[in-house]
Amino acid sequence: MADSPNRKALVTGAAGGIGRAIVKALHAEGVIVTGVDLQEADADFSITGDLRDPAFCDALPTQATRLMGGLDIIVNNAGIITRGKITETSDNDYARTMAINVEAPFRICRAAIPILREAGGGAIVNIASCWGIHPGPNHPLYVMSKAAVASLTQSLAIDHAPDQIRVNAVCPNEVNTPMIRTGFATRGLDPEKGIEELNSSVPLGRIAEPEDIADLVVFLASDKARYLCGALIEANGAKTVQ
Ligand SMILES: NC(=O)c1ccc[n+]([C@@H]2O[C@H](COP(=O)([O-])OP(=O)(O)OC[C@H]3O[C@@H](n4cnc5c(N)ncnc54)[C@H](O)[C@@H]3O)[C@@H](O)[C@H]2O)c1
Repeated sequence: MADSPNRKALVTGAAGGIGRAIVKALHAEGVIVTGVDLQEADADFSITGDLRDPAFCDALPTQATRLMGGLDIIVNNAGIITRGKITETSDNDYARTMAINVEAPFRICRAAIPILREAGGGAIVNIASCWGIHPGPNHPLYVMSKAAVASLTQSLAIDHAPDQIRVNAVCPNEVNTPMIRTGFATRGLDPEKGIEELNSSVPLGRIAEPEDIADLVVFLASDKARYLCGALIEANGAKTVQ
């Protein structure tokens, strides 16, 4: 079955490294996109606001449906990485990480599912992380938040498959975006050199580019992925979590 024309997508974190690539890749497939971010996103429609605001998240699916005249695809992509061992993290780190990485997708999915169900189905794609499946060192807040996104994905997939809503997640290892680059910069390291070193640690020879992740999102949102529901797709170039 071909994808229906003029599908409509809501993408969070649409002004970020992976988000921008997702918007572009969806556009290339003829999908109309509403982008959400702290700053204006380069999408058909742009909603600016803070995903830490519960009321903002709750309203997004209805707002996007009004703007685009429908809603078929949700991409929960916005996220932050909080570094440091548990003893180095604050209450504020906990609240901020959980609000953006977990509570926002929870609220957006909860508000979107009745809309998608009413329309006869749809696709939700969450951006988790391979660290949400295989924990790595020194990032307990990030790891637990991404594990929650992976669990939310599997749980919603079971509950809403009968509504023809497919929920899947992409779990990248390192991707060449500001998230990775600022990590090097804050540690006083040259981002270019850091990326080069990371590239050599990946069996496929390079870390992911945002487009590698965006293509997977487009696939999972499409009818080509019609039998995938509750899948956690690891995109890691064969690099395991170390
Ligand atoms: N870059 C990587 O190596 C990597 C690896 C695995 C998973 N991921 C995940 O991919 C997703 C995208 O990451 P990225 O690398 O593109 O990061 P990024 O920092 O380039 O983009 C994240 C975007 O989310 C937005 N955002 C953050 N907090 C927000 C808030 N409170 N309200 C509204 N928007 C907010 C930012 O403004 C930014 O545009 C994240 O969920 C991240 O955890 C990234």
